[in-house]
Amino acid sequence: MPALTALAWDPSLEVGNPVIDADHKETVEQLAALAAVDDAGFPALFAAFADHLREHLAREEELMVTYGFPPYPIHKHEHDRVRLELEGVEKRLAAGNLMLARGYVREVVPEWFINHKNTMDAATAAWIRSRGG
Ligand SMILES: [Fe+2]
Ligand SMILES: [Fe+2]
Repeated sequence: MPALTALAWDPSLEVGNPVIDADHKETVEQLAALAAVDDAGFPALFAAFADHLREHLAREEELMVTYGFPPYPIHKHEHDRVRLELEGVEKRLAAGNLMLARGYVREVVPEWFINHKNTMDAATAAWIRSRGG
């Protein structure tokens, strides 16, 4: 499977909600930056990526609550899983495991992002549109 980090942001990645799409664009750009940065610069960029990803997930949850998205608990549960996974990688990186963190942003996150965007995020955006948002 080609890595998402090999791609630039493209409008074909949009789900049709401006808040979600703006966060997704930022995530994709951060993944590309992480793939290109040297080892010395990696930890700071990873910290910024992790902070933004948590904000991105929280903003989607806020939208789901605002618009009464029925499968909110399922989407929230998946975000909780990602937050836990992210915390684990942050701890391993703080302990010096750069290779693990590089593999996470090069392979694990891009594959998760595309699948998650095409399913739960797309369904959330469609629901918000159906409710006039
Ligand atoms: Fe998302
Ligand atoms: Fe999501």
